[in-house]
Amino acid sequence: MSDKKNEKNPVTAATEKVAQGGGRLTTAQGTRLYESDHSLKAGPRGPVLLQDHHLREKITHFDHERIPERVVHARGAAAHGVFRGYGSAARITRAAFLGKDVETPVFVRFSTVLGSRGSADTVRDTRGFATKFYTTEGVFDLVGNNMPVFFIQDAIKFPDVIHAGKPHPDREIPQAQSAHDTFWDFVTLHTEATHHTLWNMSDRGIPRSYRMMEGFGVHTFRLVDAEGATTLVKFHWKPRLGVHSLVWEEAQITAGMDPDFHRRDLADAIESGAFPQWELGVQTFPDTEEQMFEGIDLLDPTKIVPEELAPVQPIGLLTLNANPTNYFAETEQVAFHVGHLVPGIDVTNDALMQGRLFSYLDTQITRLGGPNFAQLPINRPHVPVDDMLRDGMHQSAVHSGVAPYRPNSLDGGCPFLAGADAGGYVEVPVEVPAARKVRDAAASFDDHFSQARLFWLSMTPTEREHIVASYTFELSKCQETAIRERALTVLANIDPGLCAEVASGLGLPAPAPTVPLTDPQPSPALSQLGGRWPTD
Ligand code: HEM
Repeated sequence: MSDKKNEKNPVTAATEKVAQGGGRLTTAQGTRLYESDHSLKAGPRGPVLLQDHHLREKITHFDHERIPERVVHARGAAAHGVFRGYGSAARITRAAFLGKDVETPVFVRFSTVLGSRGSADTVRDTRGFATKFYTTEGVFDLVGNNMPVFFIQDAIKFPDVIHAGKPHPDREIPQAQSAHDTFWDFVTLHTEATHHTLWNMSDRGIPRSYRMMEGFGVHTFRLVDAEGATTLVKFHWKPRLGVHSLVWEEAQITAGMDPDFHRRDLADAIESGAFPQWELGVQTFPDTEEQMFEGIDLLDPTKIVPEELAPVQPIGLLTLNANPTNYFAETEQVAFHVGHLVPGIDVTNDALMQGRLFSYLDTQITRLGGPNFAQLPINRPHVPVDDMLRDGMHQSAVHSGVAPYRPNSLDGGCPFLAGADAGGYVEVPVEVPAARKVRDAAASFDDHFSQARLFWLSMTPTEREHIVASYTFELSKCQETAIRERALTVLANIDPGLCAEVASGLGLPAPAPTVPLTDPQPSPALSQLGGRWPTD
């Protein structure tokens, strides 16, 4: 009934009009202006009049142009593109966008983690790699990084690790330029951070280009096929251009000479038609009750599964082919969320992932000024939205109807009954075993060093030299000797040779390891088990 009533509502039509479409200068109310360079004054040399609404509108709007930057990943660059599914994943997921030759528009934002919006691109840091897929079943976000592991195993420590890594609170000087004590204090007291820290200290921490980085979903996800069968997976992006890094001297000089190096590189490449591409791939694991694979806990985000054990199988191709038109409207206002899922993809019990499911929406309500940011053009799904969310700050939809609840008998009585058969999103009914409430983690989370050692052992001599140099440089900025000594013990637990070299660079004695060293070697027999499609 009310739809009919609103058919001729001019407001609905007007909201469709694009801003800045006209060829003439107007006020925000559309009134034509004859000039915008002089305030309204009492005489050419007189005081400015309070009644000058155009002056006040223009300056007031300018005063509010900035929104808070992201609390992490504040500095970023983004691009539009297309994702084409190979169809190979159709065997393990019913997600439509992974079907054969299905093309899906995407928006990808790359970022550094710790620096502010105006910081330099080439600093040593983890990089964000967040992809928004505008699928025919709604938005799916893959909010990943360029490193496959994370510093912590539980989201409750996220504020702590970020506080430790951000500029020191007294002088607001970034870690990379002054004291490094809080970062090294945290990662040596919370040794679960050892693996990610080693990736940061390696060449992966200073990528050559966003176009030459891998991306990782980090957590284990659960895919669901049309029959409801499930498979655990880890997502990987593999760049067609290969993985390349800067060397430290290049990174430092570039940070000074061209702090926009990475965003310029991405925009220039796309503008010149050299479209960067990545293959999306998955490592697959049987969805067992333990959620372990070859002794590796799939719910521990500080662990990888070596590709020798579970090869990455390609499932689609991403091509970035268009730069944003407006940085603020697109790159700044885009809002990713780990909980933006489509049928066929579900989360797991990873305690880091579970905390992220809360955090992103919460922070975006502040950052984007209220709960309606899904209506911003960059965040809008490319499918009709028919929700029961109403009103709130910056509401730009003009909702028709009188009954924002389902079922109802007034607005056409549309039943709210989309089950799996009707294509609706249904969470996998995973068993939750009877358990006691605890603030604790599984014993399998206690091993903080063996995979860091695996990473170190896989490095070439040159890569090892770079790692030694970066630990020596970064730890030399630590003012507290106790923290340096603790860091050396962590290095001894990775590899005594690594520890000895950094200790000598710092002029300190090399401590002995405090844990038994293991040399994890994927056996050939194991490599035949991993990464096979469940139906093989
Ligand atoms: C932003 C990745 C862990 C909270 C981001 C972004 C990425 C990312 C790529 C930038 C998104 C963009 O470009 O707009 C990751 C990865 C994690 C992780 C891969 C671990 C595997 C966490 C955790 C929390 C968290 C544990 C909190 C409990 C945030 C917040 C933002 C953010 C608050 C800013 C969001 C915004 O303002 O739009 N993260 N993150 N992240 N992340 Fe994470």
